[in-house]
Amino acid sequence: MDSVTVVDHPLVQHKLTFMRKRETSTAGFRRLLREISLLLCYEVTRELPLTMEHVETPLAEMDSPVLEGKKLVFASVLRAGNGLLEGMLDLVPSARVAHIGLYRDHATLEPVEYYFKAPEDLSDRLTVVVDPMLATANSAIAAVQKLKERGARDIRFVCLLAAPEGVAKFTKAHPDIPIVTAAIDEKLNEKGYIVPGLGDAGDRMYGTK
Ligand code: PRP
Ligand code: URA
Repeated sequence: MDSVTVVDHPLVQHKLTFMRKRETSTAGFRRLLREISLLLCYEVTRELPLTMEHVETPLAEMDSPVLEGKKLVFASVLRAGNGLLEGMLDLVPSARVAHIGLYRDHATLEPVEYYFKAPEDLSDRLTVVVDPMLATANSAIAAVQKLKERGARDIRFVCLLAAPEGVAKFTKAHPDIPIVTAAIDEKLNEKGYIVPGLGDAGDRMYGTK
């Protein structure tokens, strides 16, 4: 997989525009994020290995492809990651789930960890880290570091929006981890927000401030 993939599918771009709009409601924002997550999941899983299984249709026997290997893991960076997680679980219901509780300290922009729970055996599973926003990349870098310490080796990072500064920093810290995103915006502002962006993803998802 390329080190950075921008998913330029028209449905993704259309839905992202509505997520950016200030007037989009909390319910609308959540629904759009869930819908986009299906399309991002399609992209990040397109190279999953297959194996053949012998099946009987009502008409004949055949060998037909099924996913090979251990169940994959979705790792959600709380809170906003859960908006991507839910749609991905719709597509891959048998996936295992890791939760990584991190929030950005507003003054330092450094991640503060408050929770971590992951399946035991990460070493031979694809782990897809989900978080809508890659801003300074401090949260994503820390989340991936935790997963690597727990043995994960095949990791991909999926977000909705990225800042060029975040992409550069993440790629330098974890050159082995591909990024899948719906867009790379112009820049970070002085408070570490993505511009033009969509605001604070967690607050918009949950109606907090
Ligand atoms: C947001 C977002 C990322 C992080 C990105 O979470 O969901 O986790 O900021 O910023 P960074 O790339 O500069 O680290 P936030 O800290 O607002 O927590 P929340 O999801 O609980 O609202
Ligand atoms: N986190 C967000 O939710 N939005 C940004 O623009 C940056 C970090």
